[in-house]
Amino acid sequence: MARTKYVAGNWKMNMDKAGAVALAQGLVESLKGLNAKYMIAPPFVYLDAVSQVVKGSNIILGAQNMTVTDNGAHTGAISWAMLKDLGVETVILGHSERRDEFNESDKLINEKVHKALDNGLDVVLCIGELYSQRVAGVTNQICENQVKEGFAGVKEDQLSHISIAYEPVWAIGTGKTATPAEAQEVHAFVRNVIKGLYSQKAADEIKILYGGSMNDGNAEELLAQPDIDGGLIGGASLKVDKFTTICKFASK
Ligand code: 13P
Repeated sequence: MARTKYVAGNWKMNMDKAGAVALAQGLVESLKGLNAKYMIAPPFVYLDAVSQVVKGSNIILGAQNMTVTDNGAHTGAISWAMLKDLGVETVILGHSERRDEFNESDKLINEKVHKALDNGLDVVLCIGELYSQRVAGVTNQICENQVKEGFAGVKEDQLSHISIAYEPVWAIGTGKTATPAEAQEVHAFVRNVIKGLYSQKAADEIKILYGGSMNDGNAEELLAQPDIDGGLIGGASLKVDKFTTICKFASK
């Protein structure tokens, strides 16, 4: 079945405010009339400014993370309500940089998934293996585990609000993309995990994005794979022309 493709830009910790606004303005213009699903996730501190720019466009505003608690004495934390207040509709959770640099566990990520879904935020849940795990032949096992733990307690009727991003950690920011065949194999496997947890219908409908050095040069072939439903783009999402090219491939 045809799933609408989904291209998301994870801006990570990049740019200044003027650059963020200019990038968002450029994308609002260049993505006009394209018909896939598009999201950009600027740094927290630029969300408000970017929100004003993308309002009324076909670009969804996303956040790169969210804290698990509602409010109170949590210095430096950002809640779901604060994000929604700024027009954020989607949150990226479980990114490997959060898992690695901030010691986020599958359990914490699952709690965040519930907090987001219960409060009306959509989720892009990131999974993916380390290079050592790929070499050891446990890629599928790692991804299955991260999906099972990330989705624990999530009901089938909530699945339209959650997408998966398969991001092999060794491909992130390294210029080493998984080949289309390598990525497709894991995506098909992950879709089958969703079938086992829920149903064939759930597996057919969930969007599974690829992330890890996806760019304007390799996106067309990756997006042509039957189980690759879009991309979560880091570096190449910081340039209007590169990100737009990827978005156009998804819009075909
Ligand atoms: P790069 O596209 O820079 O490899 O980053 C991918 C990523 O981590 C997106 O979340």
